[in-house]
Amino acid sequence: MPVARDRFEGGNAGSGAWRNRATLATARRPRHPAARLAGRGWLGAAGRGMIAPKPGKPPMEVAVFSTRSYDRRFLAQAAGPHHLVWLEARLSADTAPLARGAGAVCAFVNDTVDAAVLEVFAGLGVRLVALRSAGFNNVDLAAAQRHGIAVARVPAYSPQAVAEHAVALILALNRNIHRAYARVREGNFALDGLLGFNLHGRVAGLVGTGQIGAAAARILLGFGCTVLAHDPFPDPALQAQGVRYCPLPDLLAEASIVSLHCPLTPATHHLIDAAALARMRPGAMLVNTSRGAMIDTPAVIAALKSGRLGHLGLDVYEEEAGLFFEDRSDSVMRDDVMARLLTFPNVLVTGHQGFFTAEAMTAIAETTMANITAFEATGAPLHPVAAP
Ligand code: NAI
Repeated sequence: MPVARDRFEGGNAGSGAWRNRATLATARRPRHPAARLAGRGWLGAAGRGMIAPKPGKPPMEVAVFSTRSYDRRFLAQAAGPHHLVWLEARLSADTAPLARGAGAVCAFVNDTVDAAVLEVFAGLGVRLVALRSAGFNNVDLAAAQRHGIAVARVPAYSPQAVAEHAVALILALNRNIHRAYARVREGNFALDGLLGFNLHGRVAGLVGTGQIGAAAARILLGFGCTVLAHDPFPDPALQAQGVRYCPLPDLLAEASIVSLHCPLTPATHHLIDAAALARMRPGAMLVNTSRGAMIDTPAVIAALKSGRLGHLGLDVYEEEAGLFFEDRSDSVMRDDVMARLLTFPNVLVTGHQGFFTAEAMTAIAETTMANITAFEATGAPLHPVAAP
């Protein structure tokens, strides 16, 4: 179904002066902050080696899907000469026509960039999909290549943001902070049920030691954990710091805490299934800040019910696309799997907020704009994602 597209030209993206429509609004940056290009500037650290846009060329319109107030704030600060069109709608085949007039689309983690969407984009003349995320599992890269649409991502913005969130989940679950918070507010200062365990001396297993996994490894080493890791490409720097690489079954069998930090691929889809859970230590903790579909959630619920799994921390969820990033507190929870998860006292769910720090949002915005600027100037983004 076609979706109407309203415009609000000449507004300042940071001013909150949006046309009051539920689904979308547009804004143009009011000025080209040329002075900022020279100093720390809108490219910041992420923009080193950047190419300036061609002088005199009108800015390419960028349709920014799934925007919330915080996206607008950080993207507007980094926008430079780019003409950003804010679309609150999540990208799907239904909403893809909203990109009409845009040369580039900016998409987020739960936007669907499949073959149907890319076909619409090709028809509209969209030439670039600039993801404001590291993961790109939501993009049909082969279809993008077929249509000659470039895909860019933000390979690393603040790995510490996600790593620290994973550790926050570990600490909160371990010391029952979520339960203590609710209890104390009710005037209940009893300790029964809040018994935790020391991280010091525990074995933590990290699946994936790229940017985020490596940052998590360093934090956990600092806590005095023994850190095991599984990754097809071991990191010698981590090995030198004492991280021991091993096959996944060994990691699952030895670790008290298993934290997932690898990308979602066909090989990692439901990596943690019933068989993997059966290999884990009884009472172990599982943390997933990577992508929801890496764990088989019904199998995890069965392991929680039997007591085999001791704690579960999730920042991502396989069916999060229709659930996360929205206030749904006034509506009935229709997702029975999530509803069941939320009944467990030893489960802590956050709504994909691992990336959500000021530092990470700034870096995401700057690198996204750097990708777009480079594409405009040279025909190739700074950080392309190619079909395998
Ligand atoms: P990265 O690309 O730097 O590292 C991924 C690592 O996983 C690589 O070392 C790779 O060799 C390894 N890997 C690939 N397949 C594997 C397998 N089958 N088993 C074990 N390791 C495997 O990626 P980065 O930046 O560390 O991000 C990791 C993931 O975190 C992203 O793919 C994304 O899904 C997720 N993420 C979540 C965020 C959140 O807000 N919760 C924010 C950013 C990323």
